[in-house]
Amino acid sequence: MLKHIQETTDFIQHHVNSSPAIGIILGSGLGGLVKEMKIQHSFKYSEIPHFPVSTVEGHEGRLIFGELAGKQIIAMQGRFHYYEGYSMQEVTFPVRVMQCLGITKLLLSNASGGVNPSFQIGDLMILEDHINLMPDNPLRGKNESKLGPRFPDMGAPYDHELIRLAKEIGSKHGYRVHSGVYAGVSGPTFETRAEYRYLRTIGADAVGMSTVPEVIVARHGNLACFAISIITDLGFPETLSQVTHEEVIRVATQAEVK
Ligand code: HPA
Repeated sequence: MLKHIQETTDFIQHHVNSSPAIGIILGSGLGGLVKEMKIQHSFKYSEIPHFPVSTVEGHEGRLIFGELAGKQIIAMQGRFHYYEGYSMQEVTFPVRVMQCLGITKLLLSNASGGVNPSFQIGDLMILEDHINLMPDNPLRGKNESKLGPRFPDMGAPYDHELIRLAKEIGSKHGYRVHSGVYAGVSGPTFETRAEYRYLRTIGADAVGMSTVPEVIVARHGNLACFAISIITDLGFPETLSQVTHEEVIRVATQAEVK
């Protein structure tokens, strides 16, 4: 894995000479932030050695270097999901490459289902913590001590200062911004009614099929993480209608500006 990470990093550094300190992973229906960027270089995932290729509708699949609000950033437009069949190492490979490119902060967005009954569709939820319910952990296997420690602390996966800033910005704009616990599940099925009740019981406020593996790897690499969900559907009340991928993308896109 180290060899692949190094080869991919070398390939990128051969084409791009900026060294961004911030990485961004854009979730389903949330790739439009790229329109706000001054793009310096854009790679299709299929052009990058050792990069998996994204398969899901609504995920564009580009790694973009450029400037956003005066900062040099790397943005992933579209991410890799465990449910697509990738291993956890493949899902998190881009985070390793960004780590080796020298980022110090990782910002992630995603679409998620509301588990907290006070949430409404279109609300935002800042991740304060997560529960890994995926059937694997990206750090399973031999530890590469060059990348991080064998047993990384997960007591505070999300950076307190970034959370504080985001809350301040959200309230300045008058958005409904919650903070809470994100349960990461494998998917691709949405939850049964019983599973939503279970998630509520174990302390989750939202549920989704991404983010947790990337944050685990980022924390292993000592990156400061910030993640935010758009609540695209609700597990409560139990009478609500079916969840579809199309609806998730529609709500996420509509709430994108927030
Ligand atoms: N469950 C799991 N993942 C999701 C959901 C959901 O309800 N909505 C968007 N991603």
